[in-house]
Amino acid sequence: MKIFTTKNELRQYLQEVNKAGQTIGFVPTMGALHLGHLSLLAQARQQTDVTVCSIFVNPTQFNDPKDLEKYPRPIAADIEKLQQAGCHVLFNPPVSEMYAGDEHWHLDIGELEHLLEGKFRPGHYQGVMQVVYKLFDMVKPDKAFFGQKDYQQVMVISRMVALMNLPVEIVMCPIEREADGLAMSSRNIHLTTDDRQHALILSKALYATQSGFNINRISDIQHEAAAMINAEPGTVLEYFEIADGDTLHAANQNSAKIVALVAAKVGATRLIDNVIIR
Ligand code: PAF
Repeated sequence: MKIFTTKNELRQYLQEVNKAGQTIGFVPTMGALHLGHLSLLAQARQQTDVTVCSIFVNPTQFNDPKDLEKYPRPIAADIEKLQQAGCHVLFNPPVSEMYAGDEHWHLDIGELEHLLEGKFRPGHYQGVMQVVYKLFDMVKPDKAFFGQKDYQQVMVISRMVALMNLPVEIVMCPIEREADGLAMSSRNIHLTTDDRQHALILSKALYATQSGFNINRISDIQHEAAAMINAEPGTVLEYFEIADGDTLHAANQNSAKIVALVAAKVGATRLIDNVIIR
């Protein structure tokens, strides 16, 4: 696996890949890789010729400096996992390579930015778009792979790609879960043994919503799921929404896609999860 830390080296290498007529599959990450990331890499390997992964803990998408500080950075273990997964290129730049000082970024994506995650993490999606735009510009991927666990993030990036007319296909890959249902996340590392048990209420509530779904009882089902989570010790619910999968507004009879999304603090760790209902 080639490892680059500067955009010039990365660009030079990928220009040759382009010249050779090979397609590029890109998996942007913030590291602390788990099976969820590796499933994105597997998809990239299946669908494109050269797989590029980036590991960059992007400061502009953290609205809480403590969260940024404690974000896990096990780079040696990550490199080993990428090598085993057959990744061709790792881009692991320092902050100075990505940002030239006091930069400003704002792309108007409408209310999508302020719903659900946007309400609880103001500015988060502007930071995500800022870094993903830069990474797309450096990697020039044919396809980029993102996890469904960050469903709203996939919508935000797809909106940016459409607005800016970027020549990349966005592929959303299913959530990888532990055997007991917990969605895999780099943040799970922070869960204590008790938190780990309490965290299971999120997937339980989502599965209960999925199996008992009735379009005429959306509001009741949503309240029941919220009550389940609120009753779990050590867990503070931020939102549980049964939303239209295209707009993230409350789902209704006309919603072609429906998704249930949840965010909660379990102990000191903030977790998100979702299931696609239709
Ligand atoms: O999902 C993530 O890990 C990050 O938001 C991303 C897409 C790598 C941008 O920093």
